[in-house]
Amino acid sequence: MNITRAMSLVSPLMLTLAACSTKPASHTAAAPATLSASFNSACAGCHGDSAQGGFGPALAGSQLSLADFTAIVRAGSGPMPAFGAADYSDAQLSSDFAFLTGK
Ligand code: HEC
Repeated sequence: MNITRAMSLVSPLMLTLAACSTKPASHTAAAPATLSASFNSACAGCHGDSAQGGFGPALAGSQLSLADFTAIVRAGSGPMPAFGAADYSDAQLSSDFAFLTGK
């Protein structure tokens, strides 16, 4: 096995380990303790690590309904690209929405 092949196998593993380390030690679906790993990778770059805002507006404490929040994520808005369920599942979306809004 050459070094390039070896790195192509090691890199996804390291990414997986990095993603796992950001997961909460324990949480329930009803009261998520943190934002999802997908939020960290897909949304935090624009909305901030704690969804406090950055390039995109703050999402923490959002007054949007789950339906409106979902519609914006699935369709995109202005400079924000659309995210399908393959990138950001309905379960992750509703968990993050609950974390951000307490709804
Ligand atoms: C490329 C940067 C970028 C990324 C990545 C991004 N957003 Fe956004 N988002 C924005 C911008 C900019 C706006 C404001 C859009 C507008 O004014 O039309 C926005 C708006 C929103 C809104 C509406 C907020 C409001 O109060 O009106 C929601 C909800 C939202 N984003 C959720 C998400 C989620 C969830 C993700 C990850 C799946 C995400 N965004 C990824 C830039 C981004």
